[in-house]
Amino acid sequence: MQKTHTSPFIQAVQVSKRYPGAVKPVLEDVNLQVQRGEFLAILGRSGSGKSTLLNTLSSLVLPDSGSIYMEGTDICKVKEKERNRLRSHTFAMVFQQHHLLPYLTALENVLLPFMGGLGHVTKAQRQAALDMLENVGLQGKENSRPGTLSGGEQQRVAIARALARGAKVLFADEPTGSLDSVTGDAIMQLLHSLNKQGVTVIMVSHNPEYARQAQRMVTMQDGRIVGIAHAPNE
Ligand SMILES: Nc1ncnc2c1ncn2[C@@H]1O[C@H](COP(=O)(O)OP(=O)(O)OP(=O)(O)O)[C@@H](O)[C@H]1O
Ligand SMILES: [Mg+2]
Repeated sequence: MQKTHTSPFIQAVQVSKRYPGAVKPVLEDVNLQVQRGEFLAILGRSGSGKSTLLNTLSSLVLPDSGSIYMEGTDICKVKEKERNRLRSHTFAMVFQQHHLLPYLTALENVLLPFMGGLGHVTKAQRQAALDMLENVGLQGKENSRPGTLSGGEQQRVAIARALARGAKVLFADEPTGSLDSVTGDAIMQLLHSLNKQGVTVIMVSHNPEYARQAQRMVTMQDGRIVGIAHAPNE
């Protein structure tokens, strides 16, 4: 495919995937385009293939057939090193479980992606981490350890960590899944605010109410996309 400015930001073309030993494919001929700056939700029952689709779009999981294009480049065909670079710089990932390190402070957790083997971070990186913590509403909590933070605050740290290196796309797999509704609402507000700042958000959710808040909602069933709905105001 030609690299042109009209290419979709991220595009899945005829993507299929079957896990070894599984009877049915987990993804079957999935076609999907994501535009730059979009807020896209993926909704569907448990086991319908949402996480697998998300992980395929972010190149964490490679499809058996089909392609994933990022600005016109097939990221399934580039070297693993290039995919790693994409996942550490351009893409950010947040999961239902935040995977914070309990013995590090909020700030240190956000600084993790910057740390090489020596654990050294520059002043600018530290400032970027502090700015990101402020952006997610955690000023004053920089030195708190995850165990002393609420579930929503811990998820905010995970979001700050995911975006600390200036990622352009946030892949969020059930980011509100382990939170109560009030805390979940606040995390949704944060995702919307990050989206307004220019971050493309691709979010998996079980919650139709949250999914409907996205600009576009993709519904999955048995490894296939069975519906795409646009938000009423789009
Ligand atoms: N690594 C794996 N190896 C084998 N089978 C897998 C693997 N990951 C997922 N599956 C299977 O693929 C199907 C889809 O899984 P997936 O995690 O994509 O679903 P999901 O829609 O995200 O579900 P949930 O809402 O429960 O998170 C399931 O039947 C699951 O058991
Ligand atoms: Mg899942």
